[in-house]
Amino acid sequence: MTQILLGGLSPARFLRDYWHKRPLLIRNAVPGFNGLLSPAAMQELATRGEIESRLIQGSGNGWQFDHGPFKKADFKRLPKTDWTLLVQSLNHVLPAADALLARFNFIPHARLDDLMVSYAVPGGSVGPHFDSYDVFLLQGQGHRRWQISEQTDLSILDDVPIKILRNFQPEEEWLLGPGDMLYLPPHVAHYGIAEDACMTYSIGFRAPTTDELVQGFLMHVQDSVALEGRYADPNLRLQAHPGEISRAMLAQIERMIARIQWDKRDIAEFAGRYLSEPKPNVFFDPPVTPLSFAVFKKHASKSGVALHPKSRLLFIGGRFFINGEAFDSAADETAALRQLADQLRLATVPVALRERFYDWYEAGWLEIASHDSI
Ligand code: SIN
Ligand code: CO
Repeated sequence: MTQILLGGLSPARFLRDYWHKRPLLIRNAVPGFNGLLSPAAMQELATRGEIESRLIQGSGNGWQFDHGPFKKADFKRLPKTDWTLLVQSLNHVLPAADALLARFNFIPHARLDDLMVSYAVPGGSVGPHFDSYDVFLLQGQGHRRWQISEQTDLSILDDVPIKILRNFQPEEEWLLGPGDMLYLPPHVAHYGIAEDACMTYSIGFRAPTTDELVQGFLMHVQDSVALEGRYADPNLRLQAHPGEISRAMLAQIERMIARIQWDKRDIAEFAGRYLSEPKPNVFFDPPVTPLSFAVFKKHASKSGVALHPKSRLLFIGGRFFINGEAFDSAADETAALRQLADQLRLATVPVALRERFYDWYEAGWLEIASHDSI
């Protein structure tokens, strides 16, 4: 399956030769693929407040950018050419999108971000640009002409509301039709122009900046550190300048701060919580009328369970992280929890996990598996 998705390459070879290194065009990566939803269904999603959507109109140097949620009437006013509607995290609301994303599980889940869909009318594009993330661009209905360039000049236009390259110099060009896919590593310049009304599915990845990771780690340290003691100066000497912060004072502050220390366990704890944390705009919806524990148990043993598509379950050894929370698994839980983290679903629920799963079910993190999701 994955070999077809990667144009005959094994995942190991793809990772070795292309991932994060160079572009790859894969014709007919998903045979028979013609998209997951209609433009009308996508426009409906873009009217919902909880769904991130954007509308980009223009070409050349003239661009207009609007954030959703939109009104139905907004779409009626649009011209026949040169606009694109983008909807983020389609996998959170459409099981088929979640299943498509799951096919990319040759990349660690901690790197996976979401599935974005774009709908463009002829001439529509988001302009020539580059992204800081790896992306697979899978063509759904219609056709899109992709031009790419590994140029080093990544300067962008001033005074436009989106990131547009000032000097895009295409080096390669392809016309993608339904089922074709283009993989791009970060910073490869690209420009995708709709030939006809078309939809493109972007499988996107997360790559925190050093600054984001460090800021996150410092917040984690702040929450987990508790050091005793207080500034003390029994040997205080008379200072010539009472207004001066003395070297002795600085030295003591330095010693106090140097007492903050961390080890590999702290790094692992932070990484697990940070990488499993949903994005700030993600909210879980607990079931409106939850099943009782007895009924939940019955259904879960019959149909199995699935993580809610918004949930992120990761592990390091026997320590598990779900949606920013951490716990140690008991010996009789570990194998099944690892399977759930890898496959996102479990056909058989061990007795030891029923109560934990019921808590997750009540929080909206986990569901009874539906037949089409197993
Ligand atoms: C699109 O689908 O129109 C834009 C995707 C991208 O260029 O990253
Ligand atoms: Co892009």
